[in-house]
Amino acid sequence: MLLELRGITKVFGSLVANDHIDVTVEPGQIHALLGENGAGKSTLMNVLYGLYDPDDGEILIDGRPVTFKGPGDAVAAGIGMVHQHFMLVPVFTVAESVALGYEPVGKAGVIDAKAAAAKVREISERFGFDVDPNAYIEDLPVGVQQRVEIIKALSRDAKVLILDEPTAVLTPQETDELIAIMRDLKAAGTSIVFITHKLREVREVADTITVIRRGKVVGTAEPTASESELAGLMVGHSVSLTVAKDAPRLGDVGLELKGISLVDEGNTLLDDVSLQVRSGEIVGVAGVQGNGQTELADVLLGLRAPTAGSVHFGGQDVTALGVHRRIDAGLGFVPEDRSTDGMVAAFSVAENLILDRFDDPAFGSGPSISPTKVRNHAEQLRDEFDVRVTDVADPISTLSGGNQQKAILARELSRQLKVLVASQPTRGLDVGSIEFVHKRIVAERDNDTAVLIISSELDEIYSLSDRIAVMYRGRIVGIVPPDTPRDVLGLMMAGVPLDQARAQEEN
Ligand SMILES: Nc1ncnc2c1ncn2[C@@H]1O[C@H](COP(=O)(O)OP(=O)(O)OP(=O)(O)O)[C@@H](O)[C@H]1O
Ligand SMILES: [Mg+2]
Repeated sequence: MLLELRGITKVFGSLVANDHIDVTVEPGQIHALLGENGAGKSTLMNVLYGLYDPDDGEILIDGRPVTFKGPGDAVAAGIGMVHQHFMLVPVFTVAESVALGYEPVGKAGVIDAKAAAAKVREISERFGFDVDPNAYIEDLPVGVQQRVEIIKALSRDAKVLILDEPTAVLTPQETDELIAIMRDLKAAGTSIVFITHKLREVREVADTITVIRRGKVVGTAEPTASESELAGLMVGHSVSLTVAKDAPRLGDVGLELKGISLVDEGNTLLDDVSLQVRSGEIVGVAGVQGNGQTELADVLLGLRAPTAGSVHFGGQDVTALGVHRRIDAGLGFVPEDRSTDGMVAAFSVAENLILDRFDDPAFGSGPSISPTKVRNHAEQLRDEFDVRVTDVADPISTLSGGNQQKAILARELSRQLKVLVASQPTRGLDVGSIEFVHKRIVAERDNDTAVLIISSELDEIYSLSDRIAVMYRGRIVGIVPPDTPRDVLGLMMAGVPLDQARAQEEN
């Protein structure tokens, strides 16, 4: 199937999110869309999937113009989409999820789960997906949930599959598996529109690359282009992919975990974790996702009480304090999942920028909060962090994925902090924004904050950390300097103790 987008234009109020965009997706090709946060990639895909009505332009399939009144029309025309934040219902089984919204409906109008299960099995076998049709969505790791979305699209005969930042939430292994799946799909004749901020992935699988900036196509690139060439095209200026930083000026212990354990329904999620972070130091927590990092962050924020052990900020034992009091004690926190923990979707950008600070005298107090002060504060942060938003009074939900993340970072880094805990701080950010955020985190360190970064991106761990703590199965298996070779770190992430990892590496 040949898919052409011609002159697609989409306007939100005074913002032109897509400005006469032309893209041609050739049959059986992987077409990457690159662009900075807020460039208009998701908007363009929502137009293609029938979710938004374009203000101008047309979509052609095999040379014939088509109009989509909704996703149903797009699906019928052979277009499938896996969204940036995907949309499965947790209490359904895989088969039910796949059947939902398409036809194998039985006699009484109920979902024909048997037919759906057969379909899931057939597609799973064809592409080696290894997905159990009877498993419940909520029990599946995120990488498998994503495959369910792909199966859902394929079960409706998608000829063009849209993947909007599919790898942002995946572990490196899951990413490799997805890339293999993309290659198989391509070999079977499916075209793929692939959105990602990870230039390595683009260079690995894309046949064609289109770059969008501020709503316009600014060029195309060959997959042989270097990462820095692609980065430059995306953001319009050269980007440094590593952070410059001086040796840390270490102060007293700013954050300390003493013997933290967390046991839930007989499962040991955290096992005797002890760690000190000095003021003026960045400690990076490395590990394969799912080895206790999420639980560690929850315990640090005060969302979950540890079964044993204590948490200290400076000299203060904060173990018994809730989230709010810890924030008052100087904690800044960037959550792993911004959509559930970091923001209130229905609130404006300006309100989200002062969440937890409604009682701050700087904004007036209680019912007499000053809208002008709140707005000025928001506009200042918007400019400083380059959050792309038309009006700070707009709901934060209208921001692009990466700009929502930048707004949360702006809020957390604009307070006086003693301790900063950031989980996957640059997830979903474009290369230019990553450079900026990394500089800000280093500046926070140099301002004598104790910084703990939890990240599954080894590049990020290496560029920020003064020391690296490796987690495996809820334990810290070792704390190593940042010049530790990647292979040694990789072995430790698989549970091999430091001395053995080094010995293995030397042989
Ligand atoms: N429903 C909406 N109402 C108002 N503005 C919107 C809406 N959806 C998107 N926008 C705006 O359109 C622009 C493009 O957003 P889009 O989500 O397409 O960006 P993106 O390229 O996908 O970015 P990211 O890489 O951060 O996901 C942004 O400035 C965003 O704020
Ligand atoms: Mg997007």
